[in-house]
Amino acid sequence: MDIKYGCEEIYENIYWVGSYDKLNGLHCNPYLIIDGDEAILIDPGSVIDFEIVYKNVTSLIDIEKLKYIVLSHQDPDICSSTPLFEKKGVNAKIITHWRTGTIADHYGIKSKKYIVNENRYEITLKSGRKLKFIPTPYLHFPGAIVTYDAESKILFSSDLFGAISTKWSLYADESYMEVMKTFHEHYMPGNQILRPVMEVFLKMDISMIASQHGSIIKENVKNYIMELRDLQCGVLLNPIKKELMKSGGYTFLCNKILDRLKATFKEKDILKCFEGTDIELNKDTLNITNFYCTELELWENFFEIIYTIKGARWITVIQPMVTNLIIEYETVMPEIFRSKMMESENLLIELRDKNKKLTDRISQLNKNIKETSDSIMKCPITNFYNEEFFAGYLSKELNILVQEKFKSKRALLYIDIDNINKINNIYGNAIGDETIKNLAYILNSMKEETHLIFKRKAPGFAYFITGISKSEAIELAETIRNKVEKSEIFIESITVSIGLISFDEIYDGFEENKEKLLKEIMKATQYRLIAAKRLGMNMVVGNSDFKNYKETIGKILIVDKDYTNMDVLKTAFKYENFHVLTAENGYEALKVIEKESPDLIISEIMLPKMEGFILREKMIEDSKEKSIPFIVMSHQKNEDSVIRAMALEVDYYFQKPFLLSEMIGVVKKIIKGVTVNGNND
Ligand SMILES: [Fe+2]
Ligand SMILES: [Fe+2]
Repeated sequence: MDIKYGCEEIYENIYWVGSYDKLNGLHCNPYLIIDGDEAILIDPGSVIDFEIVYKNVTSLIDIEKLKYIVLSHQDPDICSSTPLFEKKGVNAKIITHWRTGTIADHYGIKSKKYIVNENRYEITLKSGRKLKFIPTPYLHFPGAIVTYDAESKILFSSDLFGAISTKWSLYADESYMEVMKTFHEHYMPGNQILRPVMEVFLKMDISMIASQHGSIIKENVKNYIMELRDLQCGVLLNPIKKELMKSGGYTFLCNKILDRLKATFKEKDILKCFEGTDIELNKDTLNITNFYCTELELWENFFEIIYTIKGARWITVIQPMVTNLIIEYETVMPEIFRSKMMESENLLIELRDKNKKLTDRISQLNKNIKETSDSIMKCPITNFYNEEFFAGYLSKELNILVQEKFKSKRALLYIDIDNINKINNIYGNAIGDETIKNLAYILNSMKEETHLIFKRKAPGFAYFITGISKSEAIELAETIRNKVEKSEIFIESITVSIGLISFDEIYDGFEENKEKLLKEIMKATQYRLIAAKRLGMNMVVGNSDFKNYKETIGKILIVDKDYTNMDVLKTAFKYENFHVLTAENGYEALKVIEKESPDLIISEIMLPKMEGFILREKMIEDSKEKSIPFIVMSHQKNEDSVIRAMALEVDYYFQKPFLLSEMIGVVKKIIKGVTVNGNND
């Protein structure tokens, strides 16, 4: 980038402290007024220019001398460098309008403000020098002001009188009028707003206009003001109507546009643009000397050539002027503005519409997919993801763990409601569901960002935690257990049993086999959950041995005096990986129950010493033993014995001879989750 920098004294002790960027047409002009001990920087500029402006300012003054910074309006090319000056230790007051100050704060400006509308739009410096601030609302911001120095009679006009041009010079030459107009046609809202401000300027004694963009006007100042007073610009166009033919026809209009192009772009580029076309230009004036078509065709061809050779940029620069001329001379809009320019805009609108429709459709599809997958993957009661989803999720977690060589910690809790069957039996399934929902609510209320909860098939939950040590996981499990026990939101108090595993207990030997590791984690947690139940429920187990669980889970007691039947059952249940205990009479059975706490009892009614129903009665008297499922098997099955069994909360009544497979199925169903492969069915 070709950037020149340096300071230029434009009046005694008033300096242009900007930079010249040859490639970018929008030059920013900050000005520094030095007044004895005080200095005022007007429109400091953008972050892009900061280094140069700072260097220029500090080449003229010690930075502590900078007492005021004027922000004429809120644009980034004016204000955005202010926080950088603050960072350099500048402690200057910000002179601005309240509307500008409110917005400019968002650049992160911290300095105190001098609000002009609260100070009669003026400031008196220590020397007695006065600066006046003239409101120029909506040119082009509601809080816009310009600065007038009564001593030098310079009007620091901010965006007003500015220009965008690659043919820049510090002081305006004869071509400046046209480029200044282009800038205002693009950036100022309308003549109704521009005119009254220009009327004010006309009454003032202005020696020089120093604008924030473009060049400094020091000759024919009034002409420039009058030109802007009459300029039609922005979107509010209402020019005085003129007759085209009396004015010189389309040739005259094209020449006006050529004058504008001449001021904005290089002459040789304009000549080259029309070279070899139907339109011939004078090499010096760049006005049309001849054309080989009708006048109306000239009006069309002229723009067609510019668009074809120079592209949309040149057309964009002259577009407001052409629009204005069309209204002023009541002529037709050239095709290029109706088609090519509009074409791309219409295409854009069309694409935007299509894109929106597509986006809407995609978001609808995504919504449907999510709803469908949620209905498949979520528990309808708790809205937690279900066990299938959990297995998939855990598998992905293990992928991460394997990749990072098991460096981070994970823990898994299985949380089961202890007496859900009883609640279902007494209050019905709806209340049972409500109980599960309430437990979900408690768990959710305790959940942190690193926790994930899933609903399992069993009446309970899987609680997965990232970045937690085993002792912290046990502490959390105890808190959950305690909270549930004390909670009063359930129809009657419930308790939970919790099995817990810290993944690092399992890793050894499974580094290569992720699927096996996944199964082992789930089995071990399940095992500890069962251990918690067997230890009397309302317990947390996180420290038991789980490696030999195949021999020790699913402990059942068979009570029968019939050895043949006993043997058949013993063999069958052992084959199913149950741990089988036996007793020959009720009295012996009670002793085994007390010592071994079986998960389930299958008992004959007709027993020596103490018959089966009496055994059940004795168990009911003991609060712990009462909850052990009890199956009756007997040749005797009549109305009286069935009524008695029901009164004793017997879970199932088999009449001998029974189907062995049916017995095994019932046992598995009653002690859910006890089987080796974790199959609850
Ligand atoms: Fe601006
Ligand atoms: Fe600006």
